[in-house]
Amino acid sequence: MRTPIIAGNWKMNKTPEEAAALVKDLIPLVKDAKCDVVVCPPAICIPAVKAVLAGSNVKLGAQNVHFAANGAYTGELSAAMLKAAGCEYVIIGHSERRQYFGETDKTVNQRTLAAVAAGLTAIVCVGEMQDERETGYTNILVTYQTQMALHGLTKEQVAEVVIAYEPVWAIGTGLTATDEQANETIGVIRKAVAAVYGNDTAEKVRIQYGGSMKGSNVKGLMAQPEIDGGLIGGASLKAQDFSEVVNF
Ligand code: PGA
Repeated sequence: MRTPIIAGNWKMNKTPEEAAALVKDLIPLVKDAKCDVVVCPPAICIPAVKAVLAGSNVKLGAQNVHFAANGAYTGELSAAMLKAAGCEYVIIGHSERRQYFGETDKTVNQRTLAAVAAGLTAIVCVGEMQDERETGYTNILVTYQTQMALHGLTKEQVAEVVIAYEPVWAIGTGLTATDEQANETIGVIRKAVAAVYGNDTAEKVRIQYGGSMKGSNVKGLMAQPEIDGGLIGGASLKAQDFSEVVNF
């Protein structure tokens, strides 16, 4: 069976000092978690958070990674740098990066390949915009995004990737996909993996839901058979709130 994974995406929030304080509060609240627990602070907070996380069950992730090993890419960080800084996970292709920073399915794929090659666990985000759902293109879109993101990975590598299904209209809006909607689309994503890499691989891939997931709705979502965890934005910024999701 797949081990659930709950990851906090702090986005552009917290100074290093605030980040350290948050994980210090979080660690005792989630020490008995039955799922994998990950926090993804802003890159500048990674050293401070790593120091506090030592010896705990909370793992460290980054919010983005560049695909090149090094070079003239002002403002970017390589997979090897993140790995050396103590990251085990990295979020790739979040809708905010697609919307505001020119991320494409092609660059999501390149970043995923670089992350996996460096030994990071990629958390690859896919999901439709509101108009795409309304016009009936959700399934085609998430299938394409998923297959493009994973292109070039081996079956074994794909099995280790985490996919986050985040309907863009549900991110930070308070709107959540219904449990059934989330389950259905995650089922479509799993079929998209199966079509290329086979059922065995698809059954191993963990697929999270993300979009206004919080203590009050986590139970219903996690009760769905296809949903293997959550990528949590707003509710990951307070230790108590995040622990309620983790301890679903
Ligand atoms: P949200 O963000 O939980 O604040 O909706 C989720 C995400 O963007 O990862």
